[in-house]
Amino acid sequence: FPNGLIAFVFGYLLGSIPFGMILTRIAGTQDLRSIGSGNIGATNVLRTGRRGLAAATLLGDMLKGTAAVVIALLLSGPGAAMAATLGAFLGHLFPVWLKFRGGKGVATYIGVLLGLFWPAALAFCAIWLLVAFTTRYSSLSALLASLTTPLLLWGFGHPQFALLFAVLTTLLWFKHRENITRLIAGSEGRIGAKA
Ligand code: G3P
Repeated sequence: FPNGLIAFVFGYLLGSIPFGMILTRIAGTQDLRSIGSGNIGATNVLRTGRRGLAAATLLGDMLKGTAAVVIALLLSGPGAAMAATLGAFLGHLFPVWLKFRGGKGVATYIGVLLGLFWPAALAFCAIWLLVAFTTRYSSLSALLASLTTPLLLWGFGHPQFALLFAVLTTLLWFKHRENITRLIAGSEGRIGAKA
């Protein structure tokens, strides 16, 4: 249990690094909070028109989750890896450095999933891409892919991972509540549209 707690805190610290915020500040773009959705994630970085910066944000927010999980797994096993998963995800959603106003969790969700059970991360990306190419809604793609993930994990024979990711999906949906309202109203921005 103490190992689990250490892994959780370690995951939180890594997860709370806001790559979108850091990279856009270094690059001197518009403030993410004042454009598009106001979110700190790759989708909103893309609205600055800087595709490379958006890709770097996606990669950073993803790999910090993967790193947390893999390091915890190597140092103290699957239980610690699950604790690091939860920590990293909560760190991204509620970073102490941004007064707990963090991101919506999509990249970090993929990253921790990649570290814990990579085939499910591939499936997430496949579903995301399919929905994104069809609808051009980043949020809807993530909502549907994250809804499928716990079911897939269950199907792959990992009920404890399925339960953990059901919690992550619930948090991701909660963070997307404004997107859901806009999707229903038909006013959600599409990928490629500038802020
Ligand atoms: O699901 C991606 C998503 O995060 C949406 O971001 O900026 O459109 O609210 P945003």
